[in-house]
Amino acid sequence: MKALSLRELEAAARALLEPGIHDLFAGGSEDEVSLRANEDAFARVGLVPRVLRGRGAPRLDTELLGCRASLPIVLAPTAFHRLAHPEGERATARAAAAAGAIFTVSMASTTAIEDIAQAGGPLWFQLYLQPDRGFTEALVRRVEAAGCKALVVTVDSPVFGRRERDLRNGFMDLPPGLCCENMRPLGPDGERGPARSIAFSPTLSWADVDWLRELTSLPIALKGVLHPEDAKRSLDSGVDALFVSNHGGRQLDTVPAPLELLAPIADAVGDRLPLVLDGGVRRGTDALKAFALGARAVAIGRPVLWGLAVGGEAGVAHVLSLLRSELERALALCGCGSADDASPELLHFSRWEP
Ligand code: FNR
Repeated sequence: MKALSLRELEAAARALLEPGIHDLFAGGSEDEVSLRANEDAFARVGLVPRVLRGRGAPRLDTELLGCRASLPIVLAPTAFHRLAHPEGERATARAAAAAGAIFTVSMASTTAIEDIAQAGGPLWFQLYLQPDRGFTEALVRRVEAAGCKALVVTVDSPVFGRRERDLRNGFMDLPPGLCCENMRPLGPDGERGPARSIAFSPTLSWADVDWLRELTSLPIALKGVLHPEDAKRSLDSGVDALFVSNHGGRQLDTVPAPLELLAPIADAVGDRLPLVLDGGVRRGTDALKAFALGARAVAIGRPVLWGLAVGGEAGVAHVLSLLRSELERALALCGCGSADDASPELLHFSRWEP
């Protein structure tokens, strides 16, 4: 039976995956308060449709950071796709390319960026700025040469979140044969050296973002900006977009759901920076609520891993096709001709104000 929803797909993946791998993907940090909050926030906002607006069939195509996409739903960066399926990131990239969706490749991908790029679809590359600037620079050059269209710099991880499921399961490292392929420095003849570990650094600051801005002409998005003051500050650093994200509840626990933090950030940056929201998006109606509060696009993390685990490329294709049809239907039912048509007048808050 084909899953009718992302939640059905998640249940199917859970039944298939080795429990420690399932926990690695599904889990959050500490008490998983933020993890639960992310999905709950969407359920607590109602939609009040407008009728008889005659907008016609909704259009989903959009442009983000200079990339055309057939839908305003981006694949968020998630590590280790080869733990979900032997074809890993290659399968994900093929499904995204076929759907015309932007795939954000994680720095911790288990396939090298050059090999993922062969799928031909629009790619962004997620970067943890490394204290070793020489390594970061070499990686940025690799990513540029591979044809990636933007860098997504994750700024919510000065240290690694405490994920107690992984500690309990003893998940310390990738199994033999797998590694973070982008962390293998390339030698002069393109040969790949041994993989380094990804460093998390509490000394990173806005000066490092300024340094990256000087280094590359690729558009830069900052991922994990949640405070309106940081959103305003990012305007001074010449960045091109923000991901409003709490890392899927995997970094600081008890951070509110990004959906609840979106409106103040949209107010802070106005039209100057496009916002991508991620965390808990599981339905087309969820995406519509984020658009109504100021997001230009949403991103999905775990659902891609569930699709990959269940069906490889076809499973990821199914995730994107479910969300596409749900979003089209939600927009039509709300009287919207596109995501830009969604505004706060459609939203009903029973327990909190944005
Ligand atoms: C992530 N996320 C993530 N973020 C990032 O910047 N770099 C990374 O390598 C990863 N890796 C990663 C692995 C796994 C297993 C998960 C679940 C998440 C966070 C990801 O980009 C995104 O912010 C969240 O996953 C969004 O929430 P949902 O859609 O999973 O609820």
